[in-house]
Amino acid sequence: MMFLLLLLLLMLTACAANPKDLSGKMFTFPAQTNRAHVKLNTSRQDFSTVTVCHRSFTDLKRDHILFSLATPSNSNGFLIFWDYTNQEMEPHIRNVKSEFGGLDYKPNTWHSICTTWDSESGLVQLWFDGQPSIRKFSSSGSNISGTTIIILGQEQDSHGGGFDLKQCFVGMMSDVHMWDYILSPCEIQNYMDYLNFTPGNVLNWRALEFQMIDKVLIEDKQMTCH
Ligand SMILES: *[C@@H]1O[C@H](CO)[C@@H](O)[C@H](O)[C@H]1NC(C)=O
Ligand SMILES: *[C@@H]1O[C@H](CO)[C@@H](O)[C@H](O)[C@H]1NC(C)=O
Repeated sequence: MMFLLLLLLLMLTACAANPKDLSGKMFTFPAQTNRAHVKLNTSRQDFSTVTVCHRSFTDLKRDHILFSLATPSNSNGFLIFWDYTNQEMEPHIRNVKSEFGGLDYKPNTWHSICTTWDSESGLVQLWFDGQPSIRKFSSSGSNISGTTIIILGQEQDSHGGGFDLKQCFVGMMSDVHMWDYILSPCEIQNYMDYLNFTPGNVLNWRALEFQMIDKVLIEDKQMTCH
């Protein structure tokens, strides 16, 4: 019995240590809960420039989280949030919120979203299904620093926790990448168009280290039938 437990533990550890290639896959978040989430591992913890890209598919008719990075001092270290009431995509960077409206965030559709930020200029820009937004002033002068916890499916109101049922994500997510630099417009366009691009050097969907907690599934990304 003890031996079996040990074996199981070893297998779990081995499994956790191996980055997985999730090409062609997606995370399915099938239910509204304040528990289900995916924790993405990175040891990196000092960012002066950031690009985050992801695709998502949902039919939620309320606020919801798409990407939540927290540090001990900023639970909204780098966060992408859909504000349903105001119909705005909101990047929060070091707890400073920016609002991008006028987007065609249709339900039941895959949307490709990339967000860039530079601490020197403080400018944040959102790319939505191939279209760049205006460049807005957000947070400048300081890095996003401290132990990084990145979570999909739930919004962190504290470092690694403080989940809110009414802000959880229900649907599918795929192609999550994060870079510690700003991608060129051509690279972002390549990501948007499903062409070749340089995978994330902080988070790489093709070599992802993660833990799934509670009800989350990895499934083949459903393509249309030809
Ligand atoms: C990810 O982090 C968790 C705890 O933070 C750890 O238990 C797990 O082993 C890590 N996985 C990898 C692949 O490093
Ligand atoms: C900010 O981050 C960059 C890149 O990681 C690093 O080179 C720099 O030293 C950091 N600045 C501060 C003030 O910590």
